[in-house]
Amino acid sequence: MHRPCAQGGMVAGGRGWHSGFMTQKLNLELRSGLPEHLRVLAEKYPRRDWYGNPNFNDLTAFWLDRHLMFRELLDRLIAGTEAFLDAETAGYGPELARYSGFLLNQLHGHHQIEDAHYFPRFQAFDTRLVQAFDLLDGDHHALDAHLHDLADQTNAVLQKLANGGAARDDAGRLLTVQQAFKGFLNRHLMDEEEIIVPIVLEYGAELE
Ligand SMILES: [Fe+2]
Ligand SMILES: [Fe+2]
Repeated sequence: MHRPCAQGGMVAGGRGWHSGFMTQKLNLELRSGLPEHLRVLAEKYPRRDWYGNPNFNDLTAFWLDRHLMFRELLDRLIAGTEAFLDAETAGYGPELARYSGFLLNQLHGHHQIEDAHYFPRFQAFDTRLVQAFDLLDGDHHALDAHLHDLADQTNAVLQKLANGGAARDDAGRLLTVQQAFKGFLNRHLMDEEEIIVPIVLEYGAELE
């Protein structure tokens, strides 16, 4: 669905659909964190203590590193667009195509693994957190639509650059989309981490 774009310079987007499963205030775009009733384990296992917990395992560290990589990729893309808007930097197009394609592709694969393996397995550990997995599932659907917007606007810039046209206005719009996506992605990753990692620590669960 989301493919790297090394050759053609274009980024393939995803399906653009939302799920309407939960109250509006818990939507990815509107919430400012997990609601209290879904923080039962997050309160017991604060983030600062995760790495020192004996149940914290290598695969959990690897999974958190993937999240860090997504954040860093997006920061790099945003910095590239800002630099282009400042000074029309050479090399912006190839770097934009390369890193956008990689981010879209990797993030899509990451969601697929979570949807197919992590979420079904982890929600069985604690019935108090069933709604937390509905929330994460809704996030993935919402992010799918935002990934589609990101791919579309990235392609608009790449197309202008490929045709030798002025890409400044499109790059300005892309910066807005990239920055909005950063907000949505950070919200999802933070909340997902505060659901999954405390389950690992409480139950000794393995991310596999
Ligand atoms: Fe996720
Ligand atoms: Fe994730």
